[in-house]
Amino acid sequence: MDTKLLDGKLVADIETAAKILSCGGLVAVPTETVYGLAADAANSTAVAKIFTAKGRPSNHPLIVHIASSRELSKWAQDIPDVAYKLADAFWPGPLTLLLKKNPAVSDVVTGGLSTIGIRVPSHPVFFKLLELGKTAYAAPSANPYKQLSPVTSQQVMAGLAGKIDAIIDGGPCVVGVESTILDLSQTPFRVLRSGPISVEQLEQVTEGSIESPLVHGVAVSGNVEDHYQPKTPLYLVSRTELLSLMGKSEPNGAYLSIGAVREKSASSTCVFMPTNPAEYAQLLYSTLYELDQKKPEVIWCEMPEGEQWGYILDRLRKASSNY
Ligand code: TXA
Ligand code: MG
Repeated sequence: MDTKLLDGKLVADIETAAKILSCGGLVAVPTETVYGLAADAANSTAVAKIFTAKGRPSNHPLIVHIASSRELSKWAQDIPDVAYKLADAFWPGPLTLLLKKNPAVSDVVTGGLSTIGIRVPSHPVFFKLLELGKTAYAAPSANPYKQLSPVTSQQVMAGLAGKIDAIIDGGPCVVGVESTILDLSQTPFRVLRSGPISVEQLEQVTEGSIESPLVHGVAVSGNVEDHYQPKTPLYLVSRTELLSLMGKSEPNGAYLSIGAVREKSASSTCVFMPTNPAEYAQLLYSTLYELDQKKPEVIWCEMPEGEQWGYILDRLRKASSNY
């Protein structure tokens, strides 16, 4: 299959994407978090193709992307009022709500679960697509199973060319890591995947405490230990260890530090990441992609410290070989 590269700046190209999707095809689309691999959520044959293209087990549920919270009841049932409050506060944006599934929705979308993950993405290209398609789109991150989520159309192409109908380029993703997933289908509410919207921000709206267990039994692919992995082995180390490793100047290592470091070996690759978590998150997957291209033997990555780094540390742990 020839994968078309479409330009999100051209209305005609977004129309082409909408047409491919309405005919049951797969199109990778930009969101504010990461690129998603979309299919018409109302067409279970189309949705099934997502699992084949990604090589993802079919019991791993997909997130359904809708245009506004007014459409929630088409996909979910027994929706608590707090879902609408959270939607008002954070949508469009990087928050996925888990709700009880509307029985009319195909089990293919939810991997047979009785709950469904839903969010309103914030990207003008995706919004236009939703408007044209008058449907919702099921979309996991547009990467082959277990690899890094893509944050540019080039990264999608590198992983899925030949396996999907098209990619719409909408520029680099501004958030850079996947949405926060909040389970509202049972009490107490729980964060199943930490993300750009923090538990504290959510609690301000729910006015009740939210659990965020690190280990839980729910079948979430982002909950698989070795997820989000670069091809190069990555080790998380303290800043002190990083500096000492840099001093040894191993020829084929790459180093990912937070902020500048004084010591820097001339023969290896050093990347100085932003000291602000949101800026760090925006660059994380792209940086790991770029480091992979340079084919170092190992990536030594400074472990961030502090509560506001929680969702980033979660990704780094899953990317690392020493956790
Ligand atoms: O930011 C995002 O959430 C991106 C963009 C494209 O929207 N999507 C994304 O999808 O990260 P995916 O499939 O790569 O990760 C979604 C996670 C998966 O780990 C999936 O298992 C979990 O959400 N999930 C979806 N529906 C669920 C459900 N009903 N119950 C439990 N987990 C669910
Ligand atoms: Mg994913």
